[in-house]
Amino acid sequence: MISQALLRRLDVPAPRYTSYPTVPEWSDAFGSADYARALAQAAASPELPLSLYVHIPFCKELCSYCGCNVVVTRDQARVERYLDALQAEITLVAERLGTRRRVSRLHLGGGTPTFLDEQQLLRLWRMLFGPFVIERDAEIALEVDPAVTRPEQLLLLASLGFNRISMGVQDFDPDVQRAVNRIQSVAETAAAVEYARSVGFRSVNLDLIYGLPRQTPASFARTMSEVVTLAPDRVAVFSFAYVPAARPNQRSLPLADLPGGEAKHRLQEVADEQLRAAGYHAIGIDHYARAGDELARAAADGTLWRDFQGYTTRRSDATVAFGVSGISDFGFAYAQNDHALGRYQAAVSSGRFASTRGRWLSADDRRRREVITQLMCNGRVHLGPDGLDYFARELDALRPLETDGLLTIAGPRLALTELGQRFARNVAMVFDAYLGAASPSRSFSRTV
Ligand SMILES: C[S@@+](CC[C@H](N)C(=O)[O-])C[C@H]1O[C@@H](n2cnc3c(N)ncnc32)[C@H](O)[C@@H]1O
Ligand code: SF4
Repeated sequence: MISQALLRRLDVPAPRYTSYPTVPEWSDAFGSADYARALAQAAASPELPLSLYVHIPFCKELCSYCGCNVVVTRDQARVERYLDALQAEITLVAERLGTRRRVSRLHLGGGTPTFLDEQQLLRLWRMLFGPFVIERDAEIALEVDPAVTRPEQLLLLASLGFNRISMGVQDFDPDVQRAVNRIQSVAETAAAVEYARSVGFRSVNLDLIYGLPRQTPASFARTMSEVVTLAPDRVAVFSFAYVPAARPNQRSLPLADLPGGEAKHRLQEVADEQLRAAGYHAIGIDHYARAGDELARAAADGTLWRDFQGYTTRRSDATVAFGVSGISDFGFAYAQNDHALGRYQAAVSSGRFASTRGRWLSADDRRRREVITQLMCNGRVHLGPDGLDYFARELDALRPLETDGLLTIAGPRLALTELGQRFARNVAMVFDAYLGAASPSRSFSRTV
């Protein structure tokens, strides 16, 4: 239990730290030439396996809460043009990275990757695994909306080697579903879960969101009971990121029905209680995994890692992203493609990289990134041999949070408590060198 006063103090806008430095600190001057330089640097270590991300922006309908970069359409011809652009981009990137680079991880995200039909999915696969080589035990994952995903697509994906699938649910309550313009029955979700398992996906994840309009502790408890009955291997319970300035579609949500502060926190508690009671382990800030799942094992032995695609047991040296708004992460630099579909397509079709913002990381950035990632993933970190001096200011700033019961500090060793794990973003913020007065912190979602 947490006091109302402490909850109010901790409820602040904060980055989610899928990257450090965070996106607002990246430069708009990071363009095609910078991206080419980053690829050249990555090409110098041809032995390191790559992680690939492909962004498929299309959705049939717009869910009002959605915070992702999506293109709503019913026009399949747009997909063909997009695949042409992806083909051009993959060819450009593969030329720079050298031939036959190994891939240990592939993630199709969106949007809704199963907006693509079987022919289009197959075309995408062949485009990727002409120049690249997928490793035998690679993690091959995609995100789907069960309402628009057909068994034939899942069968094809499983036969290609896809082994992880993540399905959006958000909430099963009909009243909440109407309020957020996303109608999806328990039965169709159960059928998708069952079919995915039967064709060989070895891990099924369900995404939920708390903090949506009209959710109540009682309604969310019913949703969580349904979720537990479906027995997914993993569950993500995301805090609703309400950012109407960046996502105008969220302006149509009934504001008066949005649970905030204490009411929102209670929804998270409801989900947490039910998932733990059903035998799931809490992972990082918003994930749960069954006891035997490799994510739970990695969390227990402190080897969990996190990137733009979520939590993973496989830390990769380079994530190369394809597609509109895709974010590449080379460890020494981040690069994001143009978020406008037309401009992205025009750039890659004319032989230029579509990168329009990014960031080269300094040694200090990399050191802070490691501390922040360890806190967000594994809930503990050793600050290093010179950590007491290097982070003297941060250690002072952490003392009040230690008094609040969020972490313990033993010399250079920090360990989050169970309460602190829930508020890991508040602790991580202390190590963020850019959260000064001038930082546009209001663009971040709130921690509660
Ligand atoms: C790209 S979507 C998933 C795939 C598919 N399009 C679907 O909706 O089922 C990834 C997930 O992001 C989460 N999400 C989207 N908008 C969000 C927001 N504003 N706040 C928190 N989570 C959000 C949802 O849980 C969603 O399932
Ligand atoms: S939540 Fe999924 S289906 Fe809905 S608009 Fe966003 S990406 Fe598309």
